[in-house]
Amino acid sequence: MTIKKVGVIGAGMMGAEIGLCFAKFDLDVVLIDRTNELAEKGKVRQAEALDKSIKKGKFEAEKKEAVLNKVLASDDFKDLSDCDLVIEAVFESLEVKSETYGKLNEVCKEDCIIASNTSSISITKLAATLNRERAGKFIGTHFNSPASIMKLVEVIPGILTDEEVVAEVIGVLKAIDKEPVKVKDVTGFALNRLFHVFSAEACRLLEEGVASVEDIDKVCVYGLGHPVGIFKLLDNMGHDLNISVDKILYDEYGERFRPNQEMQRRVDAGLLGRKTGEGFHKYDK
Ligand SMILES: NC(=O)c1ccc[n+]([C@@H]2O[C@H](COP(=O)([O-])OP(=O)(O)OC[C@H]3O[C@@H](n4cnc5c(N)ncnc54)[C@H](O)[C@@H]3O)[C@@H](O)[C@H]2O)c1
Repeated sequence: MTIKKVGVIGAGMMGAEIGLCFAKFDLDVVLIDRTNELAEKGKVRQAEALDKSIKKGKFEAEKKEAVLNKVLASDDFKDLSDCDLVIEAVFESLEVKSETYGKLNEVCKEDCIIASNTSSISITKLAATLNRERAGKFIGTHFNSPASIMKLVEVIPGILTDEEVVAEVIGVLKAIDKEPVKVKDVTGFALNRLFHVFSAEACRLLEEGVASVEDIDKVCVYGLGHPVGIFKLLDNMGHDLNISVDKILYDEYGERFRPNQEMQRRVDAGLLGRKTGEGFHKYDK
């Protein structure tokens, strides 16, 4: 494996956990955010994720400090200068991402692979905001939440991405025990297209009064073998995010992704899911 040092930009919900995935496999990680405080908060998230795994008996407590010591939290983009791979996980905004790439143009070494964790912006469009000579080394790596647990990573080459870069990224993801899947640069990639058709049908079942929230969740768990019901999962993700992805898919593909009224009403009422204490289910505050 030629990738030894990995930079992650954005120490939020996704970035912190993505960094952890690599640190657990003994790679050096630089975790960047807008301020040192935010970057350090990312390390706290990492510690919490490890604690959860330790509690479940899925990670050895005595390895925790060594893993966290692999991560340098920083607000200085110059710390990315010797990274072999940099994964961007900042806000889902073309403007914020392209501004970030402007900084990467300056600091990253020539052969550094730059990846985006975007869930909805075209990889080819993002590549166009980097220097032209870097476009061949730019790729999408769409991790799932929680990234330190979920195995799937969609790997999305843009039109200009070099084949060797695709192979190298798939290689490093396999080395950290992920299941990379190569998909075309289309809106929603593969996962969100499947997921949003499924969630829309679940909401239609509810609208038509076919079954209750609890019972539709039971159908998912006991009939389809899902680890949690669809409404629990939607609540965990947040309905503001769910509706925004629905709208992006609807703009691209039309009717089959029409945003759902059941979901929209909850957003209108501020019932965004687990983070607000209520969505389809109610949660203890
Ligand atoms: N949340 C999910 O379930 C999920 C799943 C897959 C992909 N994604 C994608 O991952 C990316 C990050 O999402 P998230 O949920 O972790 O967001 P988040 O808001 O939790 O974290 C984003 C982080 O980026 C930092 N940031 C913003 N601008 C920055 C800049 N210019 N320089 C450095 N840091 C900056 C913020 O301070 C924040 O800590 C988005 O592109 C999102 O679409 C999210």
